[in-house]
Amino acid sequence: MFLSRSTTAALKATAFSSAKTNSVRAITTASPTITQAFNGQKKANGNYTVTLIPGDGIGPEISQSVKNIFAAAKAPIDWEEVDVTPIIKDGKTAIPQTAIDSVRASTVALKGPLATPIGKGHVSLNLTLRRTFNLYANVRPCRSIAGFKTPYEDVNTVLIRENTEGEYSGIEHEVVDGVVQSIKLITKEASERVARYAFTYAESVGRTRVTAVHKANIMKLADGLFLDVCRNVAKEFPKINFDEVLLDRACLHITADPSLYADTVMVMPNLYGDILSDMCAGLIGGLGLTPSGNIGRDASIFEAVHGTAPDIAGKDKANPTALLLSGIMMLRHMRLTDQAANIEQAVFKTIAEGKTLTADLGGRSTNSEYTKAVIGNLQ
Ligand SMILES: NC(=O)c1ccc[n+]([C@@H]2O[C@H](COP(=O)([O-])OP(=O)(O)OC[C@H]3O[C@@H](n4cnc5c(N)ncnc54)[C@H](O)[C@@H]3O)[C@@H](O)[C@H]2O)c1
Repeated sequence: MFLSRSTTAALKATAFSSAKTNSVRAITTASPTITQAFNGQKKANGNYTVTLIPGDGIGPEISQSVKNIFAAAKAPIDWEEVDVTPIIKDGKTAIPQTAIDSVRASTVALKGPLATPIGKGHVSLNLTLRRTFNLYANVRPCRSIAGFKTPYEDVNTVLIRENTEGEYSGIEHEVVDGVVQSIKLITKEASERVARYAFTYAESVGRTRVTAVHKANIMKLADGLFLDVCRNVAKEFPKINFDEVLLDRACLHITADPSLYADTVMVMPNLYGDILSDMCAGLIGGLGLTPSGNIGRDASIFEAVHGTAPDIAGKDKANPTALLLSGIMMLRHMRLTDQAANIEQAVFKTIAEGKTLTADLGGRSTNSEYTKAVIGNLQ
């Protein structure tokens, strides 16, 4: 089906005017200082409140494991457990107000996996959380774990994905029968805040390089803007080296020799981050070992990237490592670095010992046995 010349012109005009509207809004509302450092308040008992969303399926079991290990490591945290079972409000999926209030007040949450309800009127709860708290940057460290054998042993990169727009803007329509359009929206505002977060994150973890991943050779305007913004933000961070790589080259490089990216923080638009981060998770042994953080304007939510694993739920077979590593990222975000380092060394030691592994890592132990072994390895 070909579009008539007038239809094409009309589409271009619509796309151009909406892009123009968005970039105008972006320029007027951009905040050059956003880095989203943790701002929670210590309570009189010396602890911080953290919202815990145990989630569905294996969520409650792995959350309990994290709570036990954090308590044994004396992490100064009071958990506030909330249920996010969706409610339907005005025909749309919504998160219960008590859960929203808890995350808003604590500004930080640890979240187990949530089952996405299937059916009309439901949107993904994960997407709802992202929108509710403006979680604009998804951070996924991917690091080979000593003692857990995979074809790659030197993966150690961090991926930061723009989480709010790009190909996930949800602006799609059918132009005429058999012709659809899906708009990739890139704004200066969203690109700037994720780029600035990437540089700030690199500084905070002692990395010396930030790499922008793009396809500006093809999407000259959209990825071109993303890249331009990254180049400009780079000027504010003279101690960090900045470079750029095409998405396809990055995939080739990282699967051929992951050490090429072992010193960098990779920052990229939404869809590229979605695909590249799962690819990197595959290099280190799968989603069961991959943590993530969603950094936002109003709160930050840390979560494992795997799902609810309904096939093993309630059987004490789940591996809590990904949620545990997400909790460790959360502790670092809260600047509780000593507790983070202690728990991290205990997890890596337990995995390297290889005696108490869960089935997904080739072992025969239960979640409870693994949890006990990690606690035994705490200093
Ligand atoms: N972030 C999230 O909340 C999130 C992410 C992905 C999927 N989901 C939801 O989870 C549900 C199930 O999705 P799925 O089956 O596609 O993916 P899944 O990740 O739940 O399971 C895939 C496979 O990996 C195994 N697995 C996953 N996590 C494990 C762990 N911690 N320990 C041991 N084994 C583990 C499962 O047993 C299963 O065999 C769906 O409702 C989906 O929408 C939620």
